Amino acid sequence: AAASVRRLSTIATPRKLAFAFDIDGVLKQGKHVLPQARRVMRLLSGADGRLDAPVPFLLMTNGGGVTDERRRQLLSKDMGLELSPNQLVQSHTPLAPVMAEYADTPVLVVGGKGFAARDVAESYGLKRAYVAQDILHWNPSVWDKAKFDERDHDLVRRDIDFSTTPLRAIFVLHDSYDWGRDLTLINELMQSDGGLLGTTRADRRSQPDGGEIPLWFSNPDLEWKSDYPVVRLGMGAFSTSVSAVYAAATGLTLPFTQYGKPHRPTYAFADAMLRRRAAELRGPGAENLNVYMIGDNPLSDIWGANNYGWDSVLVRTGVYPGGEPSHKPSFIADDVELAVQWAIENEL
Ligand code: G3P
Ligand code: MG
Repeated sequence: AAASVRRLSTIATPRKLAFAFDIDGVLKQGKHVLPQARRVMRLLSGADGRLDAPVPFLLMTNGGGVTDERRRQLLSKDMGLELSPNQLVQSHTPLAPVMAEYADTPVLVVGGKGFAARDVAESYGLKRAYVAQDILHWNPSVWDKAKFDERDHDLVRRDIDFSTTPLRAIFVLHDSYDWGRDLTLINELMQSDGGLLGTTRADRRSQPDGGEIPLWFSNPDLEWKSDYPVVRLGMGAFSTSVSAVYAAATGLTLPFTQYGKPHRPTYAFADAMLRRRAAELRGPGAENLNVYMIGDNPLSDIWGANNYGWDSVLVRTGVYPGGEPSHKPSFIADDVELAVQWAIENEL
């Protein structure tokens, strides 16, 4: 059932109210920004005068592939207000502290357009983040289904010999833009001798030997909602593919660590950020919050929120097809504006 559409006149902002908004399928559909999203941003920031104090909120997406600062700028334009750096969690943002441990270590980073994964990694302090194009330039036979793109000539790094220097970890930070190439590289490295390209561990096919390099995926979504009529495949489809190929090749389960919604580290990271935001808006002591996650994906937003102890509102503008959701939200609303109205009334 939809929330009542009672127009809110100026009201006292409920003191504990806070929001975490999913982006795709809630605030945006592909490049299209939902007009309800812009109205909600004006309402919660206090800009339209209907609330007597701003409400702490942040945007929390399983998307990524651009630096947090760049995404903040782009979303500020989309939403029609200046977002602060502590109002945005992308899929890879909570990975920043893990990645920083590899500041001086050669690693492979995957995902996003062109060299985007390197830009993201460098924004988290990594100095030796390599991308597939660096490897292809070093040895084109690594992936013979495509030619090295000469337009990438000035962007590739040549300060490493991959035949003598191992890659110590793999971070998949966004959707792969070349599944065949990236799947081939990850599959090879996970069977390699300590991350050295062109090698294989002798006993890799018999039993899990713990010799695999650490592998992270930042987003588990099998599906997501763009501006296309039916759902699109997300990074979860890519990790499923990599796992299937690895299992077929070795008989083993691909070992990796998953970040992103619905996983708890992502919610803990966002929760801490939201409390800092509340303190920034209202001063210390304002951190006692009731957080409402507004999301379109029961398997991501809603499951994670319920599991973390937040309230959750499921909207009908994204991947949720209607019917009994796989994870039950506190409420189901037609769109983000009605979701927010319901949450406010629930807190009054
Ligand atoms: O690639 C993005 C997608 O998987 C989900 O984005 O904003 O709905 O968490 P979002
Ligand atoms: Mg979504």
